[in-house]
Amino acid sequence: MPRVALCGFGTVGQAVAAAWARAGVPARVAVVLVRDAHRSRPVAVPAGAELTTDPQRVLAAAPDVLLELTGDVDLGLRLGRAALERGVPVVTASKQLMARHGPELLALAAQREAALRFDAAVGGGMPVVPLLAHALRGDRVQRLVAVLNGTTNLILDRMATEGVALEAAVAEAQRLGLAEADPSSDLDGHDAAAKLVIVAALAFGAWPAPDAVRPAGIRGLTPALVRTAGARGYAVRLLAEAERLPGPDGGPAEVALRVAPGLVPAAHPLAAVRGGGNGAVLELELAGPVALSGLGGGGAPTASAVLSDLWIVLDDRDRGRRPWVGPVARGLAVVGGGGGSRASLWHVRPRGPGPAR
Ligand code: HSE
Repeated sequence: MPRVALCGFGTVGQAVAAAWARAGVPARVAVVLVRDAHRSRPVAVPAGAELTTDPQRVLAAAPDVLLELTGDVDLGLRLGRAALERGVPVVTASKQLMARHGPELLALAAQREAALRFDAAVGGGMPVVPLLAHALRGDRVQRLVAVLNGTTNLILDRMATEGVALEAAVAEAQRLGLAEADPSSDLDGHDAAAKLVIVAALAFGAWPAPDAVRPAGIRGLTPALVRTAGARGYAVRLLAEAERLPGPDGGPAEVALRVAPGLVPAAHPLAAVRGGGNGAVLELELAGPVALSGLGGGGAPTASAVLSDLWIVLDDRDRGRRPWVGPVARGLAVVGGGGGSRASLWHVRPRGPGPAR
């Protein structure tokens, strides 16, 4: 039976272990990498697995697949590089790892013909990565607008419905295992910006620079402002937007990227994204508008994406199929770059998802 290295045993790692048997994964966890071997955890380390705090032990255990769920970019990079160098496929949930080092790791994956999959890095249980990577290969994204951060959505939703202050809503997001270890990354838009970088690479075929998006976060928003917007027929959302623009003088296309709080009309699909949810509305050249939504983070939804990627890796391995490798090109031409420092709200353009063509 294939051997899996489970690196990271926090919210996501434990949710993966808890769902393992039910998911019927035809592999066993051979080694679990943790930061603290003595900490008590709600979910037991899988029976028979070696528990270690030493990253060197992970590859010494000769895994067939490595699950990178550490939430630590430097460690994730070292593990990812070491695994791919040896041709060991990697499944990661780390958006920061992919946003900052995606092109390098994918180039290595391509060279070694080892999978590097990252469905769990964006959208939690909302399958926006597989949609862009596989389902839309015959089409072209013109524009997308999305809610990619569950913590800020939960905060904005609680402000709108209960008038809850930001701090109290952050505490709730932390209790739900949704907020980052340092919630500034959520509040200031950096988490959504990293996810938008990944989405843009998949949608447009090349990676923007990791710092191409300068987000505007939600710290300036108050319950009173959010409720006033609600009374006028708008929901406030932290919006991540990408749009393909015609290149100057018929040259290669450019892309506009932005992360900033915005107003969406009550009838827009993103207004229906409640609590810690995520949502995305894509405008496609052939298919027209496509909307999706789902639970954007937390243990179980993210575990669903990790397990789905693991199944694909195991299936490919069984059938001797070459793995899918995401975009490796860098240098996506970005104009604008984001919400900047403005805290003002912008409107989703009225030409959002129209009636089916
Ligand atoms: N902190 C992230 C969020 C977790 O709130 O969306 C999921 O990536």
